Amino acid sequence: MSDFAIVSKVIRGRRAIFPKSYTPQEIEVETIKDILDSARWAPTHKRMEPWRFVVFRGEGRQKLSDFMAEDYKNTAVSFSEARQKQLSANPLLANAVIAIIVHINPDSGLPEWEEYAATACAVQNMWLTASSLGIGAYWSTPGIIQRMGALIDMEPEQKCIGLFYMGIPEGEVLQEGTRKPVEDFTKWVE
Ligand SMILES: Cc1cc2nc3c(=O)[nH]c(=O)nc-3n(C[C@H](O)[C@H](O)[C@H](O)COP(=O)(O)O)c2cc1C
Repeated sequence: MSDFAIVSKVIRGRRAIFPKSYTPQEIEVETIKDILDSARWAPTHKRMEPWRFVVFRGEGRQKLSDFMAEDYKNTAVSFSEARQKQLSANPLLANAVIAIIVHINPDSGLPEWEEYAATACAVQNMWLTASSLGIGAYWSTPGIIQRMGALIDMEPEQKCIGLFYMGIPEGEVLQEGTRKPVEDFTKWVE
C-alpha cells in the first residue's frame, strides 16, 4: 500500500467513538504513551509546543467522575439524579481520559489562536493514532472544562479545551462517516 493509501485509509476510518461503546479492556500505559508521542509531532509555530495533557486512568478516573458529579450538582439549572449519574459514568466507561490543555506563552508574540490550532492538530494526531490501533476515541467539550483548574493543577496561562476519551470498542465499529464534497467548500484561483 502506498503512503497515500495508508494515510487516506486512516484519516477516513477515524470516527468519534463514544464511551457507551467501550469494553472494560485495558489500554496499556505504553500504548497511551505511543498516542501521546504522536501528539508532539503536530505542527507548531515557533516550536512553542503549546499542548499539555493530564491522563486519568485506573483510580484516577473516579476522581474525574466525582468531580463531574459534583460540578453538575453545583451548576445544574434543574438537578436530576439520573442525569448526574449519566454524566459522571463516562470517565468510568472509558479506559483512559486525557484532559487537553493549551499553554499560551505570553512572550511568544503569536496570536492565541495559533496555539489552539497547534493543539487541535496534536489531538488529531492522537485520534488518528488511536484509531489505527483499534482504540475508540472522541473529543468531548462539556462546560466543565472551564472549571478543570479546580481538579488539576493548571497555570494561569493554561486553558482546558476538552477531554479525550479512549476505550477499546466491542468488535469492529463500522460507522460510516459523512462529509460534504470538496466542491462545496473550495474555490480555485488559477
Ligand atoms: C473541537 C471538537 C469538540 C467536540 N466536542 C464534542 C462534544 O462535546 N460532544 C460530542 O458528542 N462530540 C464532540 N466532538 C466530536 C464530534 O461530534 C464528531 O467529530 C462529529 O460528530 C463527526 O463525527 P466523526 O468524528 O466520527 O467523523 C467534538 C469534536 C471536535 C473537533
